[in-house]
Amino acid sequence: MTVTLRAEATPSAAALLLRPWREDDVGPLVEAYRDPTLRRWTRLHVESSEDAVARLELRRRGWETGELLSLAVHEEESGAGERRLAGEVVLKRTDTGRESAEVGYWTAAHARGRGVAPRALEALTHWAFATFAAEGLERLELMHQVDNVASCRVAEKAGYRFQDILPARPPFPRDGHLHLRRDGDGSSKSAGQKRVGEYGMGGTC
Ligand SMILES: CC(C)(COP(=O)(O)OP(=O)(O)OC[C@H]1O[C@@H](n2cnc3c(N)ncnc32)[C@H](O)[C@@H]1OP(=O)(O)O)[C@@H](O)C(=O)NCCC(=O)NCCS
Repeated sequence: MTVTLRAEATPSAAALLLRPWREDDVGPLVEAYRDPTLRRWTRLHVESSEDAVARLELRRRGWETGELLSLAVHEEESGAGERRLAGEVVLKRTDTGRESAEVGYWTAAHARGRGVAPRALEALTHWAFATFAAEGLERLELMHQVDNVASCRVAEKAGYRFQDILPARPPFPRDGHLHLRRDGDGSSKSAGQKRVGEYGMGGTC
Protein backbone atom coordinates (compact mmCIF):
# COMPACT_ATOMS: atom_id res chain seq x y z
CA MET A 1 0.00 0.00 0.00
CA THR A 2 1.14 3.53 -0.67
CA VAL A 3 -0.61 6.85 -0.44
CA THR A 4 -0.28 10.56 -1.12
CA LEU A 5 -2.49 13.01 0.75
CA ARG A 6 -3.03 16.75 0.54
CA ALA A 7 -4.19 19.37 3.01
CA GLU A 8 -5.63 22.53 1.51
CA ALA A 9 -3.95 25.90 1.92
CA THR A 10 -5.31 28.33 4.51
CA PRO A 11 -5.34 32.14 4.13
CA SER A 12 -2.00 32.24 5.92
CA ALA A 13 -0.36 28.89 5.14
CA ALA A 14 0.53 26.89 2.06
CA ALA A 15 -1.13 23.59 1.15
CA LEU A 16 0.57 20.43 2.39
CA LEU A 17 1.65 17.37 0.47
CA LEU A 18 1.96 14.15 2.46
CA ARG A 19 3.81 11.36 0.70
CA PRO A 20 5.96 8.31 1.46
CA TRP A 21 9.63 9.02 2.16
CA ARG A 22 12.14 9.02 -0.71
CA GLU A 23 15.90 8.75 -0.96
CA ASP A 24 16.29 12.48 -1.50
CA ASP A 25 14.75 13.11 1.93
CA VAL A 26 17.95 11.91 3.64
CA GLY A 27 19.67 15.31 3.74
CA PRO A 28 16.58 17.28 4.86
CA LEU A 29 15.89 14.66 7.56
CA VAL A 30 19.40 15.02 9.00
CA GLU A 31 18.99 18.80 8.88
CA ALA A 32 15.61 18.68 10.67
CA TYR A 33 17.08 16.64 13.52
CA ARG A 34 19.71 19.28 14.28
CA ASP A 35 16.91 21.17 16.03
CA PRO A 36 17.10 20.85 19.85
CA THR A 37 13.31 21.07 20.26
CA LEU A 38 12.76 18.11 17.97
CA ARG A 39 15.48 16.20 19.81
CA ARG A 40 13.95 17.07 23.16
CA TRP A 41 10.53 15.70 22.38
CA THR A 42 11.41 12.64 20.30
CA ARG A 43 13.33 9.59 21.40
CA LEU A 44 14.92 8.23 18.25
CA HIS A 45 17.26 10.80 16.75
CA VAL A 46 18.85 11.05 13.34
CA GLU A 47 22.51 12.03 13.77
CA SER A 48 23.93 11.24 10.35
CA SER A 49 23.11 10.28 6.77
CA GLU A 50 23.51 6.63 7.79
CA ASP A 51 20.90 7.09 10.52
CA ALA A 52 18.58 8.77 8.03
CA VAL A 53 18.99 5.96 5.51
CA ALA A 54 18.24 3.42 8.27
CA ARG A 55 15.18 5.46 9.32
CA LEU A 56 13.84 5.56 5.79
CA GLU A 57 14.38 1.82 5.46
CA LEU A 58 12.27 1.34 8.61
CA ARG A 59 9.61 3.57 7.09
CA ARG A 60 9.69 1.54 3.86
CA ARG A 61 9.31 -1.71 5.79
CA GLY A 62 6.54 -0.14 7.86
CA TRP A 63 4.47 0.27 4.71
CA GLU A 64 5.29 -3.30 3.69
CA THR A 65 4.07 -4.77 6.97
CA GLY A 66 1.28 -2.22 7.33
CA GLU A 67 2.27 -1.58 10.95
CA LEU A 68 4.04 1.77 10.69
CA LEU A 69 2.60 4.08 8.07
CA SER A 70 4.71 7.21 7.88
CA LEU A 71 4.39 10.16 5.52
CA ALA A 72 6.82 12.99 4.90
CA VAL A 73 5.06 16.35 4.98
CA HIS A 74 6.03 19.11 2.56
CA GLU A 75 4.62 22.61 2.24
CA GLU A 76 3.62 23.44 -1.31
CA GLU A 77 5.17 26.75 -2.22
CA SER A 78 2.86 29.29 -3.85
CA GLY A 79 5.58 30.39 -6.31
CA ALA A 80 8.19 28.39 -8.17
CA GLY A 81 10.22 27.71 -5.03
CA GLU A 82 11.37 24.28 -3.96
CA ARG A 83 9.29 22.21 -1.60
CA ARG A 84 11.01 21.84 1.74
CA LEU A 85 10.58 19.02 4.24
CA ALA A 86 8.16 20.37 6.85
CA GLY A 87 7.63 17.31 9.06
CA GLU A 88 6.28 13.81 9.46
CA VAL A 89 3.03 12.14 10.46
CA VAL A 90 2.85 8.50 11.49
CA LEU A 91 0.10 5.94 11.98
CA LYS A 92 1.15 2.97 14.07
CA ARG A 93 -1.07 -0.09 13.70
CA THR A 94 0.22 -2.68 16.13
CA ASP A 95 -3.00 -3.32 18.08
CA THR A 96 -3.74 -6.97 17.34
CA GLY A 97 -7.49 -6.39 17.29
CA ARG A 98 -6.95 -3.44 14.93
CA GLU A 99 -9.62 -1.44 16.81
CA SER A 100 -7.15 1.29 17.66
CA ALA A 101 -4.00 2.78 16.25
CA GLU A 102 -1.63 5.46 17.44
CA VAL A 103 -0.64 8.69 15.71
CA GLY A 104 2.55 10.71 15.99
CA TYR A 105 4.02 13.83 14.36
CA TRP A 106 6.72 16.45 14.30
CA THR A 107 7.22 19.68 12.41
CA ALA A 108 10.61 21.00 11.29
CA ALA A 109 11.68 24.15 13.13
CA HIS A 110 11.41 26.36 10.03
CA ALA A 111 7.75 25.36 9.47
CA ARG A 112 6.33 25.68 12.99
CA GLY A 113 3.48 27.97 13.93
CA ARG A 114 1.62 27.55 10.61
CA GLY A 115 -0.63 24.69 11.63
CA VAL A 116 1.41 22.12 9.69
CA ALA A 117 1.10 19.34 12.29
CA PRO A 118 -2.66 19.70 12.98
CA ARG A 119 -3.50 19.95 9.27
CA ALA A 120 -1.30 17.00 8.36
CA LEU A 121 -2.73 15.04 11.28
CA GLU A 122 -6.27 15.85 10.18
CA ALA A 123 -5.49 14.54 6.68
CA LEU A 124 -3.91 11.37 8.09
CA THR A 125 -6.83 10.85 10.47
CA HIS A 126 -9.44 11.20 7.74
CA TRP A 127 -7.52 8.78 5.51
CA ALA A 128 -6.96 6.28 8.33
CA PHE A 129 -10.66 6.01 9.21
CA ALA A 130 -11.69 5.94 5.54
CA THR A 131 -9.18 3.16 4.83
CA PHE A 132 -9.23 1.02 7.95
CA ALA A 133 -12.74 1.33 9.41
CA ALA A 134 -13.70 -1.71 7.32
CA GLU A 135 -10.94 -3.65 9.15
CA GLY A 136 -12.35 -2.58 12.51
CA LEU A 137 -10.53 0.68 13.26
CA GLU A 138 -12.63 2.62 15.77
CA ARG A 139 -10.30 5.05 17.48
CA LEU A 140 -6.98 6.80 17.13
CA GLU A 141 -4.79 7.53 20.14
CA LEU A 142 -2.33 10.34 20.61
CA MET A 143 0.12 10.52 23.50
CA HIS A 144 2.42 13.32 24.57
CA GLN A 145 4.34 14.26 27.67
CA VAL A 146 2.32 16.51 29.95
CA ASP A 147 4.64 19.51 29.54
CA ASN A 148 4.67 19.35 25.74
CA VAL A 149 2.16 22.17 25.43
CA ALA A 150 2.61 22.63 21.69
CA SER A 151 1.81 18.95 21.10
CA CYS A 152 -1.27 19.22 23.31
CA ARG A 153 -2.43 22.13 21.13
CA VAL A 154 -1.95 20.01 18.01
CA ALA A 155 -4.13 17.30 19.56
CA GLU A 156 -6.89 19.78 20.39
CA LYS A 157 -6.80 21.46 16.99
CA ALA A 158 -7.00 18.11 15.19
CA GLY A 159 -10.03 17.01 17.22
CA TYR A 160 -8.27 14.58 19.56
CA ARG A 161 -10.00 15.01 22.90
CA PHE A 162 -8.13 14.75 26.17
CA GLN A 163 -8.94 11.37 27.69
CA ASP A 164 -6.60 10.44 30.51
CA ILE A 165 -3.36 11.07 32.37
CA LEU A 166 -0.76 8.37 31.77
CA PRO A 167 1.75 7.82 34.57
CA ALA A 168 5.42 8.56 34.00
CA ARG A 169 7.59 5.56 33.18
CA PRO A 170 11.15 5.24 31.90
CA PRO A 171 12.42 6.77 29.70
CA PHE A 172 9.71 9.43 30.17
CA PRO A 173 10.34 11.43 33.36
CA ARG A 174 6.87 13.01 33.47
CA ASP A 175 3.26 11.96 33.14
CA GLY A 176 1.65 11.96 29.71
CA HIS A 177 -1.69 12.87 28.18
CA LEU A 178 -3.78 10.42 26.23
CA HIS A 179 -6.02 12.04 23.61
CA LEU A 180 -8.54 10.13 21.50
CA ARG A 181 -10.38 10.64 18.28
CA ARG A 182 -13.15 8.34 17.11
CA ASP A 183 -14.41 7.79 13.63
CA GLY A 184 -17.06 10.39 12.86
CA ASP A 185 -17.87 12.06 16.14
CA GLY A 186 -14.70 12.30 18.22
CA SER A 187 -16.74 11.33 21.29
CA SER A 188 -14.95 10.08 24.38
CA LYS A 189 -17.08 7.21 25.64
CA SER A 190 -14.11 4.86 25.63
CA ALA A 191 -12.52 5.43 29.03
CA GLY A 192 -10.72 2.28 30.07
CA GLN A 193 -10.76 0.64 26.66
CA LYS A 194 -7.75 -1.22 25.37
CA ARG A 195 -4.81 0.88 24.21
CA VAL A 196 -2.16 0.32 21.59
CA GLY A 197 0.51 0.66 24.26
CA GLU A 198 1.08 2.22 27.62
CA TYR A 199 2.64 5.63 27.71
CA GLY A 200 6.23 5.43 26.66
CA MET A 201 5.82 2.25 24.69
CA GLY A 202 3.75 3.44 21.78
CA GLY A 203 6.86 4.75 20.13
CA THR A 204 5.52 7.21 17.60
CA CYS A 205 6.87 10.26 19.41
C1 LIG B 1 4.42 20.09 18.52
C2 LIG B 1 4.67 20.45 17.07
C3 LIG B 1 4.51 19.19 16.22
C4 LIG B 1 3.66 21.53 16.62
O1 LIG B 1 3.73 21.64 15.21
P1 LIG B 1 3.24 22.95 14.40
O2 LIG B 1 3.17 22.54 12.99
O3 LIG B 1 4.11 24.12 14.74
O4 LIG B 1 1.79 23.20 15.01
P2 LIG B 1 0.98 24.59 15.16
O5 LIG B 1 1.42 25.57 14.16
O6 LIG B 1 -0.44 24.22 15.22
O7 LIG B 1 1.43 25.12 16.59
C5 LIG B 1 1.09 24.39 17.77
C6 LIG B 1 1.58 25.18 18.98
O8 LIG B 1 3.00 25.35 18.88
C7 LIG B 1 3.36 26.63 19.46
N1 LIG B 1 4.00 27.47 18.43
C8 LIG B 1 3.43 28.39 17.63
N2 LIG B 1 4.36 28.94 16.83
C9 LIG B 1 5.52 28.35 17.10
C10 LIG B 1 6.84 28.47 16.61
N3 LIG B 1 7.14 29.33 15.64
N4 LIG B 1 7.81 27.68 17.14
C11 LIG B 1 7.53 26.79 18.08
N5 LIG B 1 6.28 26.60 18.61
C12 LIG B 1 5.30 27.39 18.13
C13 LIG B 1 2.09 27.26 19.96
O9 LIG B 1 1.91 26.84 21.31
C14 LIG B 1 1.06 26.60 19.07
O10 LIG B 1 -0.22 26.58 19.68
P3 LIG B 1 -1.25 27.79 19.33
O11 LIG B 1 -1.65 27.59 17.92
O12 LIG B 1 -2.34 27.59 20.29
O13 LIG B 1 -0.50 29.08 19.51
C15 LIG B 1 6.10 21.03 16.89
O14 LIG B 1 6.30 22.07 17.82
C16 LIG B 1 7.19 19.98 17.05
O15 LIG B 1 7.55 19.31 16.08
N6 LIG B 1 7.74 19.82 18.26
C17 LIG B 1 8.82 18.86 18.49
C18 LIG B 1 8.39 17.41 18.26
C19 LIG B 1 7.16 17.06 19.06
O16 LIG B 1 6.92 17.57 20.14
N7 LIG B 1 6.35 16.13 18.50
C20 LIG B 1 5.19 15.62 19.19
C21 LIG B 1 5.63 14.58 20.17
S1 LIG B 1 4.24 13.89 21.05
